[in-house]
Amino acid sequence: MSGHPDIDALVEEARSAVASARTTEDIRAVAASVTGKKSPVAEASRSLGTLDPDQRRERGRALHEARAAIEALVEERRSTITAEERASQLEADRIDLTEYIAGTTPGPAGRGRPHLVTQTRDELEDVFVGMGFEVAEGPEIETDWFNFGALNIPPPHPARGMWDTFYLDLGVPESTLLRTHTSPVQIHLMEAAVSTGGLPIHAVMPGRCYRRDTPDARHLPVFHQIEGLVVDEGITFADLAGTIEVFTTAYFGPDIHSRLRPAYFPFTEPSAEFEVTCTICHGEGCRTCSQTGWIELGGCGMVDPAVFEAVGIDTERWSGFAFGFGIDRCAQMRHQIADLRALTENDIRFLRQF
Ligand code: DAH
Repeated sequence: MSGHPDIDALVEEARSAVASARTTEDIRAVAASVTGKKSPVAEASRSLGTLDPDQRRERGRALHEARAAIEALVEERRSTITAEERASQLEADRIDLTEYIAGTTPGPAGRGRPHLVTQTRDELEDVFVGMGFEVAEGPEIETDWFNFGALNIPPPHPARGMWDTFYLDLGVPESTLLRTHTSPVQIHLMEAAVSTGGLPIHAVMPGRCYRRDTPDARHLPVFHQIEGLVVDEGITFADLAGTIEVFTTAYFGPDIHSRLRPAYFPFTEPSAEFEVTCTICHGEGCRTCSQTGWIELGGCGMVDPAVFEAVGIDTERWSGFAFGFGIDRCAQMRHQIADLRALTENDIRFLRQF
C-alpha cells in the first residue's frame, strides 16, 4: 500500500467491507480489518511522520475524521446484525401451539376444555345472573347444624333419612360431615346478612355434594347442585313459580316448561317438587318420563319460618323462597345422557362431544 492513500477511498473501501458483514463474527473480523492496528487508516496515520508539519496537521485531522466515520459504520452494522440475530433466534425458539390445538402429534391429546359439568354450572350461573341473582359458595365440609339443624331437621327428624350422609371421623360422632346438599349455604348467607345488615338476598349457590348412594344411571355419590335463595319484603309463591319458569325456558329452550307439585321439605313451607317438560319426548310421553311428559328436576318452596328463626331473621318483615336442583341432572337432561356415570369416568371420547 502506498504511503499516503486517498482518504475518501479508504472510507469507501471500509464501507463496502462493513456492508458485506452478515454475522456477529463477520462484523468482528471486519472491525479489526478496518479500524485495527493493521488497518489502512492506522497505517496511513503511522506514515504521517514523513509529511511536513502543515500537511501533517491537515491530513491528521482528515484521518481522525475518517476513523470516526468508519467506526460509526461498524457500530451501525453491528447493531443491525445483533437485532436480526435476536429476531431469528426468537423465531427459532417459538413453540407452535397450534400444532397441539389441532390435536396432531406431537403433544398432548388435543385441546382441553371445561368438563361438561363445569360448562353446565357456568351456563346455569349465567342464566341466574341474567335474572339478577348473585353467585355465592359455601364449604363442602359442614357441621350438623348447617346441613341439618338450622334447616329445621333436628336430630330425631325422620327426614334425615332423605339424605344418606358421609360423616367425618372428627370430634363428636356425627357432628361433622360432607354436605348432602347445597341448602346449608342458605344458612351461611342468611347468617352473614343478619350480622352485616346485608338483606335482601337474591343468590344462587352452586357446588359439590356428597351422599352415600350407590352409583347408577341417575345417581352419583359425588354430584353437584345449585341452590337458590331469595329473602326480601313481600315475596310470594308466585315469585317462586315465575322464577322457576323463567329459568326453565332460558336454560332448556322455549318449548320446555315447568310445573310444581306439592312435596315435603323440612326447610320450606309450603314445599314443592318442580318438574320440567321431558326433553326426550317434549311432553308426548316416553319411557324416560314414565309416559307423564314431565321430569322431576328439584325441590323448592317458601322458606320455613323455623329457618328464619334459626338465623335471626324477622319473619314479620321478611319472607323468601328457596330452590335446589342437580347440575349433573340438568346436563343429563339437556344432552340426553343415558347414564350419569359417564360424567365421572373421564372417557375422552365421551367428554369430547361437549
Ligand atoms: N336440598 C334439597 C335436596 O337436596 C333440595 C331442595 C328442596 C332445596 C327444597 C331447596 C328447597 O332449597 O327449597 O333434596
